[in-house]
Amino acid sequence: MSSTFGAISVWVTLFGLALFPGIRLINGDQAPNIVFIVADDLGFNDISWNNPKIISPNLDSLARNGTILNHNYVLPICSPTRSALMTGYYSVHTGRQSSVIWQQEPVGLFTNFTLMPEHLNTLGYESHAVGKWHLGYCNQSYLPTNRGFKSFNGYFIGSEDYYSHLRPPSVGGGPPGYDFQHNEGPDLSANGTYSSVLIGLHAEKIIRDHALQTPEKPLFLYLPFQNVHSPLQVPDHYSNLYPNETNQARKTFSGMVTAMDDAVGTVVKSLKSQGLFENTIIVFSSDNGGQTMSGGNNFPLRGNKGTLWEGGTRVPGFVHIPFSKNRARNVSSLFHVTDWLPTLYRAGGGDPHELGPIDGLDQWNLLVGNQDKGVRQEFLYNIQPIPSIEGAQARAAISDGNVYGYGSEKLFKVGDFKLLRGVPGEPSGWIPPAKSVDIPLERNNHLANLTHFQAVPNFASFEVRLYNITSDPEERVDLSHNHPDIVESMLAKLARFDASMIPPNIKPEVASGNPNRFNGIYTPGWCQAQPK
Ligand SMILES: *[C@@H]1O[C@H](CO)[C@@H](O)[C@H](O)[C@H]1NC(C)=O
Ligand SMILES: *[C@@H]1O[C@H](CO)[C@@H](O)[C@H](O)[C@H]1NC(C)=O
Ligand SMILES: *[C@@H]1O[C@H](CO)[C@@H](O)[C@H](O)[C@H]1NC(C)=O
Ligand SMILES: *[C@@H]1O[C@H](CO)[C@@H](O)[C@H](O)[C@H]1NC(C)=O
Ligand SMILES: *[C@@H]1O[C@H](CO)[C@@H](O)[C@H](O)[C@H]1NC(C)=O
Ligand SMILES: *[C@@H]1O[C@H](CO)[C@@H](O)[C@H](O)[C@H]1NC(C)=O
Ligand SMILES: *[C@@H]1O[C@H](CO)[C@@H](O)[C@H](O)[C@H]1NC(C)=O
Ligand SMILES: *[C@@H]1O[C@H](CO)[C@@H](O)[C@H](O)[C@H]1NC(C)=O
Repeated sequence: MSSTFGAISVWVTLFGLALFPGIRLINGDQAPNIVFIVADDLGFNDISWNNPKIISPNLDSLARNGTILNHNYVLPICSPTRSALMTGYYSVHTGRQSSVIWQQEPVGLFTNFTLMPEHLNTLGYESHAVGKWHLGYCNQSYLPTNRGFKSFNGYFIGSEDYYSHLRPPSVGGGPPGYDFQHNEGPDLSANGTYSSVLIGLHAEKIIRDHALQTPEKPLFLYLPFQNVHSPLQVPDHYSNLYPNETNQARKTFSGMVTAMDDAVGTVVKSLKSQGLFENTIIVFSSDNGGQTMSGGNNFPLRGNKGTLWEGGTRVPGFVHIPFSKNRARNVSSLFHVTDWLPTLYRAGGGDPHELGPIDGLDQWNLLVGNQDKGVRQEFLYNIQPIPSIEGAQARAAISDGNVYGYGSEKLFKVGDFKLLRGVPGEPSGWIPPAKSVDIPLERNNHLANLTHFQAVPNFASFEVRLYNITSDPEERVDLSHNHPDIVESMLAKLARFDASMIPPNIKPEVASGNPNRFNGIYTPGWCQAQPK
């Protein structure tokens, strides 16, 4: 009898391994679930563990029981960061370095890149996305459900109204179009419900269904929120939590952070009630720095969303790993958004070498507490190769000029340096929360208002700046003249990245994408997916 049972259990184990290669199924040890939360435009000073005025208790408790990534770096705007997250490549290697994808722009993240959910699926994961996509929707091949996600509930573009989910078309006129989708078409039932509430409810349903229907598989839930991007909108009961905030933009914005935090609370509760929490890795990161022209804040860091200053690129982030050996940590090692793919692939039982020559590094040993320091020694902030783009793309929130940034950790014996070449972007000052404003991002015009903060400095476009980010995280003292040798060697590094860059994948917006051609709904099917 016992030998028969032995044979059966061996057979089951082998069968399991054959079905889910790479997963540790032995003794019922299942690969961890992954919930990856992205906040939109949340700045360094916009979250409770960096700023006690902000009310975000659910995120705070995860962060303080997890590992706070105090040097968590991303790209300065949305689609560049999300493409780096999904592919593990710097955006200069995916063509997404220059701009967000505009709503009627006939491009998407190139289809020859394999995305995070596709990689995790090969390890046996089941992947779902709830929230913002913004990596292209003009051709069906660009949609999340054709890039590894079993389901998608959310919106293809960005910047829409939080309740009506409407956004005006950019080319061809007509009334605003609707953008809240279920898989490949509109979900009109979302009309009227505040975005973070919707996202919380969808996430809860996916967690419940997963636990009921496919508990044998690990879950990857990608959860990119609309909060706290402009327009500044939130139910009153959230902004009322900030009775002492006299700056109206900041008050609404702060309420929007709390609304998102509430939805995170819903997700955590759901994971716990389904018994998944203890085997779930929860990641949190913003996609770029705060937009000080829409209530956000990066103080004391310098600059804004859309700039290569620290305020544009160093953002709140943490990971919560219940089974980590070493919890409640706050690490200063460099972490870059490209690192998530190899790190989570490793966490899921895969070998990151299988991911090819990506730019991301496997930082699992840092996160899980096996090591105090990370493996990343340096990273490329970004290269914006287009001095001045004609047409629609000139609206990108990246300033003119050749903008290069490159940071290192102990790369050179003499210290911890960041090199910037060109114009790092505006606003470039140190903007305290009290100076928050709400300038509707009505294309182009906001640049006229930069003087609200400080006079625009007149950089020569190839000016080089060097900062010791360790001693001077606020980028106040340019050391480029003190260390010509370091400047020279960092410029040589940049030149190598420059040489490996692929051209920006950007095109003028087209009338064929106007939602009014599709009954007022932002709809796929009006461009060719690239590369063919
Ligand atoms: C994390 O550590 C840095 C110093 O390395 C400190 O400035 C910061 O306040 C810490 N953050 C938290 C939430 O403890
Ligand atoms: C950490 O989690 C425990 C329960 O899991 C909770 O009681 C505690 O308040 C959390 N710690 C923090 C700092 O949030
Ligand atoms: C959303 O609801 C409003 C109010 O009921 C209605 O007027 C509008 O047509 C709806 N929008 C869509 C896209 O269905
Ligand atoms: C607002 O300020 C008053 C007076 O200083 C203080 O008593 C109250 O606790 C503050 N409220 C909040 C929510 O911080
Ligand atoms: C700039 O800001 C001022 C005051 O906030 C406002 O009156 C003006 O219309 C703005 N200008 C543009 C071009 O947005
Ligand atoms: C950079 O800052 C760190 C921390 O203060 C310091 O140890 C190092 O000597 C500095 N490097 C230079 C060249 O100033
Ligand atoms: C989507 O892209 C593919 C590949 O470029 C192309 O063959 C197809 O026609 C496109 N679909 C539409 C609706 O244009
Ligand atoms: C993907 O396609 C783009 C555009 O053709 C090309 O530049 C890039 O090198 C390709 N990348 C990969 C990883 O295949």
